[in-house]
Amino acid sequence: MNIRQLLDDRITAALHTLGAPDTVTAIVKPSARPEFGDYQANGVMAAAKQLKTNPRELATRLLEVLDLSDLADKLEVAGPGFINIHLKNTWLSETVGRASARQLTPNSQTIVVDYSGPNLAKEMHVGHLRSTIIGDAVARVLEFQGHKVIRQNHVGDWGTQFGMLIAHMVSLKAHSGELSMQLADLETFYREAKKRFDDEPDFADAARDYVVKLQSGDAECLGLWQQFIDTSLRHCEEVYARLGVHLTRADVMPESAYNADLANIVSELQEKGLLVEDQGAQCAFLDEFKNKDGSITPIIVQKTGGGYLYATTDLAALRYRSGVLNIDRALYFTDARQALHFQQVFLLARKAGFVREDISLEHMPFGNMLGADGKPFKTRSGGTVKLVDLLVEAEERAFILVTDKNPELGEAERHDIARTVGIGAVKYADLSKNRNSDYIFNWETMLSFEGNTAPYLQYAYARIKSIFRRSGVDAEAISSPISLQESAERTLAMKLLQFTEATDSVVKEGLPNHLCTYLYELAGNFMSFYEACPILKEGVAEEVRSSRLQLANLTAQTLQTGLGLLGIGVLERM
Ligand code: ARG
Repeated sequence: MNIRQLLDDRITAALHTLGAPDTVTAIVKPSARPEFGDYQANGVMAAAKQLKTNPRELATRLLEVLDLSDLADKLEVAGPGFINIHLKNTWLSETVGRASARQLTPNSQTIVVDYSGPNLAKEMHVGHLRSTIIGDAVARVLEFQGHKVIRQNHVGDWGTQFGMLIAHMVSLKAHSGELSMQLADLETFYREAKKRFDDEPDFADAARDYVVKLQSGDAECLGLWQQFIDTSLRHCEEVYARLGVHLTRADVMPESAYNADLANIVSELQEKGLLVEDQGAQCAFLDEFKNKDGSITPIIVQKTGGGYLYATTDLAALRYRSGVLNIDRALYFTDARQALHFQQVFLLARKAGFVREDISLEHMPFGNMLGADGKPFKTRSGGTVKLVDLLVEAEERAFILVTDKNPELGEAERHDIARTVGIGAVKYADLSKNRNSDYIFNWETMLSFEGNTAPYLQYAYARIKSIFRRSGVDAEAISSPISLQESAERTLAMKLLQFTEATDSVVKEGLPNHLCTYLYELAGNFMSFYEACPILKEGVAEEVRSSRLQLANLTAQTLQTGLGLLGIGVLERM
């Protein structure tokens, strides 16, 4: 249940009965202060302007036709024409008990979520973290809402680098016969191949030959390439497993898969008159990409010499997603540097008719992960940090913390806890920031048990679980009514009911930080409630205790569900 939406729908309808045009809506928002009620409708002023009437008068007439008596016990006009809505305690207490966290939208969409997409020539590095976890969280929330999500891992497995890698494989094979050992460390393998490419002209020539051979379907080349790709994908899968990210082989739709379609893409663009030849390259010059000096940044779809580009592949991918996958919406999670690329391919795909008109194409850009110095995150010596190393370090650091806090737990259990806390902390630190900005990666803050962090939320969950262990009550078996007497109880219930508002806004804008903020506030509301409203203390009446236990249980469930949607686990104890 989305209360905000419900109120918005009903007040909007009432405004329309008073003659307000269709474009006018109620603009309902949670109130900024308790004296303004729980929600506020701000749409009356705009409606009055349209109707050329006094806003306060319109607000008063609105209250005459608006019937919210089932859920609100007080509606009042405030200021120039705001409507303050005070929800009924009885309605809140009945609804919070019934509202299950799971809600399926009947008219679900088919949505491609394009995320992770590492280049397979190298191992995954920290630069792939953001796309992988932000995309995964949004995909989970969309699925939770009942949409059909098609994950597309658009990995880079095609292009000139692979000629170099094949050349290195061939020469190693000639010398030692056994490749799998060398491929175990892809980073070193890549570095060696690159060095030879730069230093040895014969090697570089061979590498260029292998690219041509690969692209013309030479069986031996394809075999070596496949072996490399398999190894690289296994590396990715290890990282996904460690991160708890829902990406499998079945979600991999690599660049190479579109290879056979690229010539068609170019010839169709030509037929439609969208291309011109510029210094031997095939380019689209769209007026929409005119720069200040009057020049246009072209979209190059074929290089001099015939090679295709990143944009060509994305055009083919768009056509596939529209025509074959039949999607309603596609979300692309890449860093902000690709913003122009996506604007260009989206527009060109539309002009060429490669995608149905009603499809929504959305680039969801993100900023950089920075080191303490405010510069892009690097190793001490200035190299790129392998993602797997970062994750191992997260678990090690969490293990020290857990051991410090709970020295009495067995080592295996401490390792389990450390994994959930360490990985959760890394993911949450990223997801809780608005993805559009850069952020500074900081181990101390992300692993802190205080503040807006994963350990804080996991700890709140574990604390509730411990209340239940001490109470001896089975959380699921309580069915007595919830009553909201204390203001802390009411605040907590209200927050519990706003879960859907948080998840709705995550999927609308592709911003998981909305859900993080919600969970952080929920945990804070719970802590205040727990301080003000004793549960297990002697003297607490039986029905008060069971009402409070239910609020506690609903909080735990909501924390678990919410963290789960962010791809973060909870712990029974920590
Ligand atoms: N491989 C690309 C990169 O590393 C990301 C792919 C994003 N998806 C896409 N359809 N272009 O930057």
